[in-house]
Amino acid sequence: MDMMKKPHAVCIPFPAQGHINPMLQLAKILHSKGFHITFVNTEFNHQRLLKSQGSDTLNRHTSFQFETIPDGLPPPENQDVTQDIPSLCKSTSETCLEPFKALLSKLNGTTTTPPVSCIVSDGVMSFTLDAADELGIPEVLFWTSSACGFLAYTHYSTLRENGFIPLKDTADLTNGYLDTIVDCIPSMKGMRLKDMPTFIRSTNPDEPIVNFCIRETARAKEASAIILNTFEDLEHEVLNELSSIYPSIFSIGPLHAIANTMVEKDLKLLCSSLWKEDKDCLEWLDSKEANSVVYVNFGSITVMTPQQLVEFSWGLANSNQIFLWVIRPDLVSGDSQMLPPEFVEATTERGLLTSWCPQQKVLNHPSIGGFLTHSGWNSTLESISSGVPMICWPFFAEQHTNCWYSCNQWHIGMEIDNDVQRKQVEKLVRTLMVEEKGKEMREMAMDWKKKAESSSSLLNIDNLINRVLLLS
Ligand code: UDX
Repeated sequence: MDMMKKPHAVCIPFPAQGHINPMLQLAKILHSKGFHITFVNTEFNHQRLLKSQGSDTLNRHTSFQFETIPDGLPPPENQDVTQDIPSLCKSTSETCLEPFKALLSKLNGTTTTPPVSCIVSDGVMSFTLDAADELGIPEVLFWTSSACGFLAYTHYSTLRENGFIPLKDTADLTNGYLDTIVDCIPSMKGMRLKDMPTFIRSTNPDEPIVNFCIRETARAKEASAIILNTFEDLEHEVLNELSSIYPSIFSIGPLHAIANTMVEKDLKLLCSSLWKEDKDCLEWLDSKEANSVVYVNFGSITVMTPQQLVEFSWGLANSNQIFLWVIRPDLVSGDSQMLPPEFVEATTERGLLTSWCPQQKVLNHPSIGGFLTHSGWNSTLESISSGVPMICWPFFAEQHTNCWYSCNQWHIGMEIDNDVQRKQVEKLVRTLMVEEKGKEMREMAMDWKKKAESSSSLLNIDNLINRVLLLS
């Protein structure tokens, strides 16, 4: 095909690891389907990717290009930190439209790339709809959270109208009020306020991040379609309810697994980890028996106190299980990222500590028998795709919703109290790794893995392309 006649998709993720990863997987899939791709990162994250991946990796493909726009925030002093999410929500929605439009004009002004024919934007970057509107091209909004998380955000206004939020007093955070059953969301029976995305935990009737979510889920109705990184069997009821709110919904996940099956080799090597990955841990896992290792990782944003770190440490040590624990450089608040020296000494033989890993490869490794996670959606979906059951310690955003579904609907999770104690960590790790209940959860997770592999997502991707993205 004449290169200038190829469809050209501009893919722009919200600038955080859990959004960049699924967007890159989707961009790779679209590229394998014949699209020219422009992938738009922020300047700060582009610099991080050059440091973690190397410039040659990013500039290798003429039909898969990277571009940047500013994120509107002052650059943090330390390059290896996750930026504040609410500040990023505010700065991108207030400052990125004009730079984004200028980038589109630059792309359409060149003779080396085909005209931009569609935009695939993060669901929380809905300002991009104005640019698509000006160019008269289709735009799909990609909500990278779970469908259940997206539905919960969509019902933030319902929670407000029904008087569940705002909290009356900060005492409501600890006096049991968050155990209140939410009975105004049809497909979320039995859920409590504490299972809703955490941004509602505020006494401010005009909480900015709640207003942001209400506005972004409302603007989603203007998109040509909404896409979700999930699959029909896993969130059937929720997807049905979403379809009654949004006319065009495509479930096209698990994207990382689908991309692995259909993307050409050298593009597969394109990685979006903002930290440099320690690949040696895979060799360490090769020496371990099947289902014998508990993998511990809390994603790219979770922050814990030094005391919580100590409780997880001794819980893992006292469980007597083999573990691979990824401790991100900025995981612990303050600067005391100190593990108890006695813990390190006591577990040298059976524990491996590292700071960032190729998580999808780790979860796919046969030695991994369980995942102690923060219930970020990508981690949850990757665990399901690998048939690995979970212990969930949700931190923020829609992680509590993902945790509730993992435990109560999909039966592949057990929750650790937020106020983590070493005794509970020890008990749950042993239950997951050596007891009958853990074996049953592993079998259930393998069932979900099989359902993911035989889902309608591949057909949904083709329909998304033919019915939406190619119609410009
Ligand atoms: C955040 C929120 O947690 C999540 O709920 C929301 O939907 C997206 O934004 P994050 O906290 O980073 O994401 O967690 P998660 O959604 O699990 O994404 C982390 C990604 O980084 C995963 O794709 C995971 O494979 C990858 N990762 C994580 C690594 O590659 N190596 C690591 O060591 C840790």
